[in-house]
Amino acid sequence: MIPICDVTEQYRTLKGQIDAAVLDVFAHGQYINGPNVQAFERELAAYLGCGYAVGLNSGTDALHLALRALDIGPGDEVITTPFTFVATTEAIGIVGATPVFADIDPQRFTIDPKAIEAAITPRTRAILPVHLYGFPAPMHEILAIAQRYGLAVVEDCAQAIGATIEGRHVGTFGDAAAFSFFPSKNLGAYGDGGALCTSRPDLAERVRALRAHGGRVKYHHEELGVNSRLDEVQAAILRVKLPHLERWIARRRAHAAAYDAALREVVATPVELGGYGHVYHQYTIRTSERDRMQRALGDLGIQTMVYYPIPLHLQRVLGELGLREGAFPHAEFAAREVLSLPMYPELRDEQRLRVVRAVRAQGAFAAV
Ligand SMILES: Cc1ncc(COP(=O)(O)O)c(C=O)c1O
Repeated sequence: MIPICDVTEQYRTLKGQIDAAVLDVFAHGQYINGPNVQAFERELAAYLGCGYAVGLNSGTDALHLALRALDIGPGDEVITTPFTFVATTEAIGIVGATPVFADIDPQRFTIDPKAIEAAITPRTRAILPVHLYGFPAPMHEILAIAQRYGLAVVEDCAQAIGATIEGRHVGTFGDAAAFSFFPSKNLGAYGDGGALCTSRPDLAERVRALRAHGGRVKYHHEELGVNSRLDEVQAAILRVKLPHLERWIARRRAHAAAYDAALREVVATPVELGGYGHVYHQYTIRTSERDRMQRALGDLGIQTMVYYPIPLHLQRVLGELGLREGAFPHAEFAAREVLSLPMYPELRDEQRLRVVRAVRAQGAFAAV
């Protein structure tokens, strides 16, 4: 069987270093906010080119604490994409604000700036673009809109660590950005983990307090906080892995280029745009024969996934928004046609060739 992602292969390649780093944590005893968390925060900020990184226990927490730190709450609206993982809108709901959707660009799968502008109301406080599948949202256009209307920007970088626009990392464009270290992410921990990145000292400082029960000084609690810390063991693992990230991204891009060349006549392959550095968290094709193709590949022992089969405006959890089918046609169309193929740095060339042969054998062509 060829899995869509195999996190254990990567562990095998780094086993000696990772085992040593984890055992060192067990021995040093500073299990909460220990030396690895602090060092990883510095190393991540240096890698991204932002002022501060704050380790948290998930990407979801990074999103919702970014909104809290920006004082976004009840009565406020946050514009985002309906074609993303539910954590994006969950974060908006956790702070009591209302998600307002803007449809996606059908080729890029990311939020369409024209649709953002049309969704702005007097209650809009922020824009929350998602760099879906590892492809950057158009940040220059989004920042121009944010500036024109005085809005904050929070980037959802959960799937896109290392992605760039004109050489600049995603996560350094907005007021704040959320990263996830969920195991299958491009930089994956061996449990949950996340980070908020920002170049605004006020936001970094506020999130450091919010993650520690709303206090800056032990046992002095100034506001309602949470307990959300990047675990010391996970930080030790992430420090071993971060220096390999660029090499892994290069391998993903090489797989993507080979998939593109072999598949572009058969299905719609992911967009590559000048100046945009895609990191291929997912390699996602489109085909009108999606369900048939997924079944056929499954029969051949090739795992594929649909990210995501139901756009968020049609999810029951957001039912009170009263949105119906047809509201965001590009997101709905994408949900019917997308299919993610096996993609991870350790995928072997012969495995990729088997995937290519299977997709080509289906011979479906989707006009988009
Ligand atoms: C787009 C997106 N946003 C947010 C998250 C949430 O990250 P986490 O699972 O670390 O909470 C994820 C990943 O799961 C994601 O894919």
